[in-house]
Amino acid sequence: MALSEIGGSIMKHDKRYLLNYWQYLKRHRFLLGVALALIPLLSFFNLAQPYLVKKAIDDAILVGDLPLLQIITMLFGCCVLFDFLSRTLQVFLFQYIGQKTVQDIRADLFQHVLNLSARYYDRTPLGVVTSRLTSDIESLNESFASGLVTLLADLLTLIGIIVVMFLLSPKLTLITILILPPMVVVVNFFRIKLRAAFEMIRTTLGKMNGYIQEQFQGVSVLQLFQQEQHSIKRFKRLNQTYKQSTLSSVSYDAMLYSLIDSLNSILIAVVIWYGWGQYQADFVTLGVLVAFVDYIHRFFTPLKEISTKFAILQHALASLDKIFSTFDIQDYVRSGKQRLVSFEGNVTFDNVSFAYKGFEDKVVLSDVSFSLKKGDLLALVGPTGSGKTTVLRLLSKLYDGYTGTITLDSYDLATLDLADTRRSIAVVNQETTLFSNSIAFNITLGNSAISSDAMVEAAKQVAIHEFIMSLPGGYDYCLEKGNQSLSAGQAQLISFARALASDSPVILLDEATASVDSVAEEAIQKGLDVLLAQKTAIVVAHRLSTVQHADIILAFNEGKVIECGNHKTLIKQAGFYANLFNMQFAGI
Ligand SMILES: Nc1ncnc2c1ncn2[C@@H]1O[C@H](COP(=O)(O)OP(=O)(O)OP(=O)(O)O)[C@@H](O)[C@H]1O
Ligand SMILES: [Mg+2]
Repeated sequence: MALSEIGGSIMKHDKRYLLNYWQYLKRHRFLLGVALALIPLLSFFNLAQPYLVKKAIDDAILVGDLPLLQIITMLFGCCVLFDFLSRTLQVFLFQYIGQKTVQDIRADLFQHVLNLSARYYDRTPLGVVTSRLTSDIESLNESFASGLVTLLADLLTLIGIIVVMFLLSPKLTLITILILPPMVVVVNFFRIKLRAAFEMIRTTLGKMNGYIQEQFQGVSVLQLFQQEQHSIKRFKRLNQTYKQSTLSSVSYDAMLYSLIDSLNSILIAVVIWYGWGQYQADFVTLGVLVAFVDYIHRFFTPLKEISTKFAILQHALASLDKIFSTFDIQDYVRSGKQRLVSFEGNVTFDNVSFAYKGFEDKVVLSDVSFSLKKGDLLALVGPTGSGKTTVLRLLSKLYDGYTGTITLDSYDLATLDLADTRRSIAVVNQETTLFSNSIAFNITLGNSAISSDAMVEAAKQVAIHEFIMSLPGGYDYCLEKGNQSLSAGQAQLISFARALASDSPVILLDEATASVDSVAEEAIQKGLDVLLAQKTAIVVAHRLSTVQHADIILAFNEGKVIECGNHKTLIKQAGFYANLFNMQFAGI
């Protein structure tokens, strides 16, 4: 039967996760205790009502005892009132505990996921992270508030009803119980069908959500390449499957409900027919017959819900798994214990080799070595996919697991404190990221150590100050949808200013000026010369005009350094760099 299967799935389930969930629930154990204590009380008030009706008929109405009838009526009224009050309190308490618990879990999960390494995000779609933090947690709450607890309450009520009925009339109870085996078969049949339909609904909904997200993220590409019809066709197919699975779940549900209702009516008819004979023979009273009809009705009500509750619980157990297994992911970049104090800005790579996890066969960096003194400007050039960005990622501790040694001053990067390292290295990524917040926030990222003077100064250095001042509200201008209201170049310059505003001794620029026109780039270059003289900088640039002033230029190919020197020496070598340079400036 359904309940034993629920037990089975809980047993099969990773019990650790239930324990983890309990750690959160038990913070509210007092309220939980009160709410649980209300369950038997509720069952009692519920079961007492038909019994009082029986008493009223047999002991008061049939013998004309009016004072007793008044007392029973009052008792009945009290039962209804307490039933109502304790039910309301119980629902409120379970919802309150459930909501508090999911609030705590959600906050912890957000913090946990936020600290996971780039490796985790490489292999996890963003939609998965979102659903862990929203729908999965919500379904956990549903299971708690309306799944497990009400199932317990239903079970208790069913047992209670059978016990009371047995006390009233064992024979009539036996007839009622006889209906149970066919009922189990019916409920079980529909439960299996319903579960399959629910599963189908969930998978289709997941697919549909993913599809909608992807289509609208790339809506302008679809429009430009006139692929709307194709997109609509695929959407219609998903929509059709969704409709079909929803319809089949609704029809199974309806059939189950009406079948149970019919069984309920048949049973009542049988009980009245058989009970009438018993009444004639004086084995049962009229009150017992009336109470039986009521009890049978109350017996069937929870049975109708059991399959739905079972589905909720199954879903919740799956969510429990997903949520707490995410907590199990400990994919952090290891932080060392060594504090980085008074870092000057000397950086060395010594025979560094690296492959991304999961792609161990593909060596991305192979024996890379270079040495930078404070204030040096290193330029990385090379074809796409040659490993330039990877060098910057290793230095900023986004990934670990390399061989060889990277040192900052005299400290081994692997032994250094993560936060200290990140504080000392400012990065402008290849993809710009802006947040839906003010321009000021986007430059400082809420770091109160950056004064507004420093912020403005940084914006001036990258020649974006005037543009910002032209916006309504200037630095307080709110970017509504991340980057959408700015041009690619403006967005890039803001993230450039972000890196300059922090007073880190090392700055890494990955194609930082790729989206900026050549005139602006030259202006920025001039402004930066002074500033970068104070800092150690590594720049990646496809446009070679920006790298000519570099102290060292490393040319990469397939993860290997194939040339090393400054502009003059490399041009003289007439190798890869010189070739690249001549190609770019051939037309000039
Ligand atoms: N997160 C990742 N997981 C697995 N492989 C990766 C990952 N990021 C990059 N790679 C691979 O590592 C190699 C080097 O990538 P990298 O981004 O360092 O190149 P790049 O020189 O910066 O190229 P581009 O000029 O196009 O920015 C590429 O072949 C790429 O496929
Ligand atoms: Mg790159």
